[in-house]
Amino acid sequence: MTENVEVIILAAGLGTRMKSATIKILHRAAGRPIVDYVLDLASDFASQPPVMVIGHQREAVQSWVGERARYAVQEKQLGTGHAVMQAVSLLGREGIAGKRVLILSGDVPLTRPETLRALLDEHERSGNAMTLLTMQLDDPAMYGRIVRDGAGSVQRIVEAKDASDDEKKIGEVNAGIYVFDGERLFENLSSLSADNAQGEYYLTDLLRLLRTAGHRVGAVIARDPIEALGVNSRAELSVVEAEIQKRVVMKLMSEGVTFRNPNTVVIDSTVAIGQDTVVYPFVTLEGMTKIGEGCVIEPGVHLLNVTVGDDVHLKTGTVAEDAIIEDEAAVGPYAHLRPGTKLGRSVKVGNFVETKKAVFGAGAKASHLSYIGDAEIGADVNIGAGTITCNYDGVNKHRTVLEDGVFIGSDTQLVAPVRVGKGAYVGAGSTITKDVPPEALALSRTPQKIIEGWARRKK
Ligand code: UD1
Ligand code: CA
Repeated sequence: MTENVEVIILAAGLGTRMKSATIKILHRAAGRPIVDYVLDLASDFASQPPVMVIGHQREAVQSWVGERARYAVQEKQLGTGHAVMQAVSLLGREGIAGKRVLILSGDVPLTRPETLRALLDEHERSGNAMTLLTMQLDDPAMYGRIVRDGAGSVQRIVEAKDASDDEKKIGEVNAGIYVFDGERLFENLSSLSADNAQGEYYLTDLLRLLRTAGHRVGAVIARDPIEALGVNSRAELSVVEAEIQKRVVMKLMSEGVTFRNPNTVVIDSTVAIGQDTVVYPFVTLEGMTKIGEGCVIEPGVHLLNVTVGDDVHLKTGTVAEDAIIEDEAAVGPYAHLRPGTKLGRSVKVGNFVETKKAVFGAGAKASHLSYIGDAEIGADVNIGAGTITCNYDGVNKHRTVLEDGVFIGSDTQLVAPVRVGKGAYVGAGSTITKDVPPEALALSRTPQKIIEGWARRKK
């Protein structure tokens, strides 16, 4: 089925109503630029990359989209018909003869593959030259109106700006998604004129032209109008994002993830979560975050590009970025795992602990109030409350190595570079500036002095 379809994506417009320095198709919804959703859709229907019509910010668009599309440049935005002319002249008559041409908009990311499938099927079944997607709206606003004849067949599309008062009342509108017979599209494009309210070449005029020339045209009404929602403003972007979020959470729930209050979470469409994981309210999961099975993700957890194993417990307020957390680890509440952190199996990192470029071996613990940076922590090491790796001398960063089974007493400063050997102990309150041999005890605090009766004499 796919080998017979060419996809054209219209994306030359800037989107002035976004009030942005960035072209609208590169604005993100649920972690991905909206054009990515359209590219995904295109790849469901054609084996070769779609032709994208680009104009505004073409370098930025090309550098993001890369090899996922072929490009036709539209120097001046003279209308949707003119945009399609650019793509069609790139493909050439031989490129689209005998094929169906599916036209999508770069700023309409919510269309479901099933809906496009229905559009293509209807096109095929009816032997149409053009089949368009329409939708029924309570407020048809600025969309093109679908004018049908007495028998109910589609006659023309009237742009809102060209519509009579009666036509403006029509609730069925053009979604801006079409299938054409390649040959018919090629033959008729050059008949478009810019004789209308906006002085643009309207792609929509092809409906009337094809019909007048005796070809069959038809329409499929989308079940859910949100599928044709375009992003023209920040308000519409937020509606699109909410819909994608909803779909992401529904999909995860169907795969066995529990959400205690799905309306409060923010989860990028790039995130994966395993079965039987429970996600509490007010959780944000971004980027390439991947969570395993049977985890508990408590309120206020914020993860960006974090890999989490199975049966991990992330307690309230845990923040992590570019980190790896292995099976059965427990983190937080209020822990901060910065880039380069790796927690091995069953590691425990507790309240108000900050880590950075720190690798913890299996079973290691830092339960309270510590900063562990540029460090290699062996298996089953126990780091007491208030331990600090002094990794920065004002110019360079230095490493701390704690070998397997080391015990660090509370309130210890480890002045890096420093290494504590296997099974060694460091007494509470120590400042460690030299390496500690395996199995030794290191103590560096000043001995305690007792002055008897001092308080009484002071009075
Ligand atoms: C178009 C339709 C309208 C439909 C609506 C659905 C026409 C004439 N009208 O109107 O019937 O209801 O979409 O959203 O087609 N673009 C280019 N080059 C151009 C002009 C537009 O690439 O010269 C691209 C835009 O970047 C956008 C898409 O085409 O991705 C649609 O353009 P837009 O200006 O939003 O069309 P509408 O006026 O909304
Ligand atoms: Ca539009």
